[in-house]
Amino acid sequence: MLVSAKEMLNKARDGKYAVGQFNINNLEWTKAILQTAEELKSPVILGVSEGAGKYMTGYKTVVGMVKGMLEELKITVPVALHLDHGSYEGAKACIEAGFSSVMFDGSHYPIDENVAKTTELVKICNDKGLSIEAEVGSIGGEEDGVVGMGECADPKECKMIADLGVTMLAAGIGNIHGKYPDNWAGLSFETLEAVKNEVGDMPLVLHGGTGIPADMIKKAISLGVAKINVNTECQLAFQEATRKYIEAGKDKEGKGFDPRKLLAPGAEAIKATVKEKMELFGSVGKA
Ligand code: 13P
Repeated sequence: MLVSAKEMLNKARDGKYAVGQFNINNLEWTKAILQTAEELKSPVILGVSEGAGKYMTGYKTVVGMVKGMLEELKITVPVALHLDHGSYEGAKACIEAGFSSVMFDGSHYPIDENVAKTTELVKICNDKGLSIEAEVGSIGGEEDGVVGMGECADPKECKMIADLGVTMLAAGIGNIHGKYPDNWAGLSFETLEAVKNEVGDMPLVLHGGTGIPADMIKKAISLGVAKINVNTECQLAFQEATRKYIEAGKDKEGKGFDPRKLLAPGAEAIKATVKEKMELFGSVGKA
């Protein structure tokens, strides 16, 4: 059964660890992440961007696939199915389709409009027992064609959005999606502390988990981050392992062309990445 992310994130905040959100793209991704979470007895959040949802033919397909897997793989750890960087319309569609959590990314709207739309979605989610994430201060980098500039959030705006009753809050602290450039200044812990002081107990979300050094991840968790999003790193691990398989000519040996064989090294690489992150985030054994 899918669960809201609320309970797992509140527990993570209290226990000073973070739950990973790993974005899914297809069956291999979903299976690899769920199997790893179960093996490590870790709660997990499956993230679906609007682009990935479209790729998988729509949100209903995603819900069907994930629910089917929870049953067939006998998954016992808490799993939330979460819309990542949702638009207002996308959030409504996912709620309708059976997601257990949504993010409404209103960070590109003027604050008043972000507040109005967030308020409406919070009410719908509360009524249905779903968790909802909001964002203040857009996260840099590019994701599905949406480009943010990597701002540091205004702590007062964070407080305003947190007070609307969202479950968790993503605040920009200099983090960006994708690989970090060599001249990246690092996370702004000053901003994180200021945000935490304003929003109190609200679990905070760190986007752009790919490539953030371990010591910064640990410090962010100690300052209130309870959810960390990872996407690109699984894609790079999959790519690297698939490239090796083909470059070694294994696809041309015997039945090495069979997709179940061709995609297996990539899936194993995703598992290894997810395991490494769950260990770093401290969520192993917390389910
Ligand atoms: P990365 O692709 O940098 O890991 O970021 C993932 C993310 O924040 C999804 O919302």
